Amino acid sequence: MKNVVLLGSTGSIGTSTLKVVEDMPDRLRLIGLAAGGNVDLLVEQTARHQPGTVSIQDPSRVEALQQRVGSSVKVLSGTDGLVALATLPEADIVLIAIVGTAGLLPALAAIRAGKDIAVASKEILVMAGELVMNEAKAHGVRVLAVDSEHSAIFQCLEDKPAESVRNLWLTASGGPFRDRTKWPREALAQVTLEQALKHPSWVMGRKITIDSATLFNKGLEMIEARWLFGIEMSRVQVVVHPQSVVHSMVEYVDGSIIAQLSTPDMCLPIQIALCHPERVKSDRVKTNFAAIGSLTFEEPDTERFPALLLARQAGELGGTLPAVFNAANEIAVERFCRREIGFLDITRHVRAVMEAHQRIDQPSLDQILAADQWARTVSV
Ligand SMILES: NC(=O)c1ccc[n+]([C@@H]2O[C@H](COP(=O)([O-])OP(=O)(O)OC[C@H]3O[C@@H](n4cnc5c(N)ncnc54)[C@H](OP(=O)(O)O)[C@@H]3O)[C@@H](O)[C@H]2O)c1
Repeated sequence: MKNVVLLGSTGSIGTSTLKVVEDMPDRLRLIGLAAGGNVDLLVEQTARHQPGTVSIQDPSRVEALQQRVGSSVKVLSGTDGLVALATLPEADIVLIAIVGTAGLLPALAAIRAGKDIAVASKEILVMAGELVMNEAKAHGVRVLAVDSEHSAIFQCLEDKPAESVRNLWLTASGGPFRDRTKWPREALAQVTLEQALKHPSWVMGRKITIDSATLFNKGLEMIEARWLFGIEMSRVQVVVHPQSVVHSMVEYVDGSIIAQLSTPDMCLPIQIALCHPERVKSDRVKTNFAAIGSLTFEEPDTERFPALLLARQAGELGGTLPAVFNAANEIAVERFCRREIGFLDITRHVRAVMEAHQRIDQPSLDQILAADQWARTVSV
């Protein structure tokens, strides 16, 4: 039996994680849950899974939540609450699925407390990949991927050393604006929020759905892969694969390519991370190749989606630049969601903030957090 702490239980990854836990009650037990503001769903989840501790973002709502979940459940709040959950003595693994940067401090705290972490929140490795991976190594814990692409690479790599790899190939669905004839660059300037929120293959949270439309999501994943698998950016490649059946691939130095395939369902990479190193029977995902028919691949269009180039630059130069890339994008996406800026302005904004940044090499955690804050407040 593994004791699981789930940070971000009310989100898209969070609710899929609960399904996986419900699938295997003899293997996985939820002992801690954290949510942002969706208190009603957290109360429902607490009644169903009976974790000993829960946490919400806003301290002023703790008392009301305590009354609803009863005195047998400890209620915490804010960053302290997330850190306390991530370091619960009885926790075996902490799955972090909080959107944004709030997952970084609890991730580091969990590692330092000797817990394996399963990472959905890509911001953690984008901002502080080197630091997080060094800490994990020092404490002998695993950083397991929840992102379907990184889970695929993890499965294909089977702990082979970086020297055996020629390239890591991340697949990208291409998002709702993949079709160049339907969506030339001029048309992208007019994209509405509703159009950007219609992802062709996955149902996900709002932020990652917009990031999939701009391809910033793939850019974040490139940097995440670089740290997770200890491979320099020049060996992290992207190919567009609209069917989202090949979740990613490893090209070995001998030319052989190993891919991981299945119909898209986030429950699969979540299960693989939580059950690692075992393969556990599940009927949730079944893939019918005849029904899929064909698998196609295309070169990514960096002219219409320059986010990939910015990500490569951020990942290659490193230091505080990836944190700035991530934070500037978060701010731009928020503004696009409030309809204050257009779709193409997202990339424009991120590029301008990156250009204005004085990069620091080998940054400390404080310097990373300061760069993140700077990128959120600077006006360009
Ligand atoms: N969705 C996917 O298929 C997918 C795939 C790969 C990776 N990811 C990554 O996984 C992360 C989560 O994505 P998602 O799609 O699940 O997002 P989402 O549906 O928007 O859910 C975000 C979760 O974070 C919680 N949250 C936000 N701020 C918080 C805070 N300060 N303290 C505690 N909880 C907080 C939210 O709580 P409330 O809802 O209660 O406010 C919610 O539970 C992102 O980093 C994303 O890039 C997602």
